[in-house]
Amino acid sequence: MTPSADVGVWVVDRISTTELEGIREIELASLRVDGKAHLDDQVRLDLEFGVPSTRRHLLARGGIPQEVLGYAHLDLGSAAASAHLVVHPDHRRAGIASKLFLALVAESASSRLGIWAHGDVPAARGFAGRLGLVRIRELWQMRRTAGMAMDAATYPADVSVRTFEPERDDKAWVELNAAAFADHPEQSRVSLDDLRQRMRQAWFDPAGFFLAERSGELVGFHWTKVHPATAIDATMGEVHALGVHPDAQGVGLGKALTLTGLHHLFGLGVGQVMLYVEADNLPAIGLYQRLGFGLHTTDVVYSQP
Ligand SMILES: CC(C)(COP(=O)(O)OP(=O)(O)OC[C@H]1O[C@@H](n2cnc3c(N)ncnc32)[C@H](O)[C@@H]1OP(=O)(O)O)[C@@H](O)C(=O)NCCC(=O)NCCS
Repeated sequence: MTPSADVGVWVVDRISTTELEGIREIELASLRVDGKAHLDDQVRLDLEFGVPSTRRHLLARGGIPQEVLGYAHLDLGSAAASAHLVVHPDHRRAGIASKLFLALVAESASSRLGIWAHGDVPAARGFAGRLGLVRIRELWQMRRTAGMAMDAATYPADVSVRTFEPERDDKAWVELNAAAFADHPEQSRVSLDDLRQRMRQAWFDPAGFFLAERSGELVGFHWTKVHPATAIDATMGEVHALGVHPDAQGVGLGKALTLTGLHHLFGLGVGQVMLYVEADNLPAIGLYQRLGFGLHTTDVVYSQP
């Protein structure tokens, strides 16, 4: 193991190909050890395309020849700074995360810093405890298997469903998403550029992106995603984002749109569908439980008190 005295931390806005390989190796090794890769979609997009001025990559490098041993991603785009932090399993308990944490605190200046712990693994709890961080947010990952009975999707008579049409629907969807997720810290901030970046990803498939329309206006959506198999999971579907405009809530659109997406995903042959939901969003959790989803893992944000 490389002693932490020989490890330096660099703050960069672009990642070289070799560094990207190093970070992917950290993700793969973590997936094997923790069952979690610890980074999310936005972090992966930033690794590939570079970060805007409100986000940073932090690299912990050491060893001979120098390798990436730890990685952190910092997002300063909202009132509270938020970060992802992961150390290669072969180099843990050597003070590397502590060094990255100090650099994160320095970079986030006066903003309160929150760190994501995907799966809330024991190491994250130990690390957070040592630094005096407290749990401020919990996100559930829920899963549902194929083969359970499922209702057909039924919509109010004045609502029709169709799939997303790139360009025609881009702007209206961004507005609908912002309205549906007005209180959500990340989803409410998805811009037209963010949408178009996601549309350029290999996984993007408009045939799995459903829109509910009433009198020519978008009132709800269900954007599904298919994840390729990983070292621990077979190909899996995801309720990537589901939203209903506040003016159209309460008439069963959430349930109908969820069912439309589930029929689509299971029709493609996936064995499981997963989704993320805030642990305190009891109405949404109730809906997903009634549709056969159960708690799989919990993600936690640890923050400076
Ligand atoms: C959590 C994580 C980042 C810690 O990285 P690390 O480089 O091993 O951490 P450090 O060596 O700087 O540890 C500092 C202190 O945190 C605590 N700690 C770290 N790992 C721990 C573990 N597995 N169990 C209990 N306490 C732990 C200890 O007090 C440690 O000091 P010590 O080794 O002198 O006892 C690393 O295990 C990891 O990448 N986990 C998966 C990603 C993750 O959960 N990120 C979210 C972090 S909030």
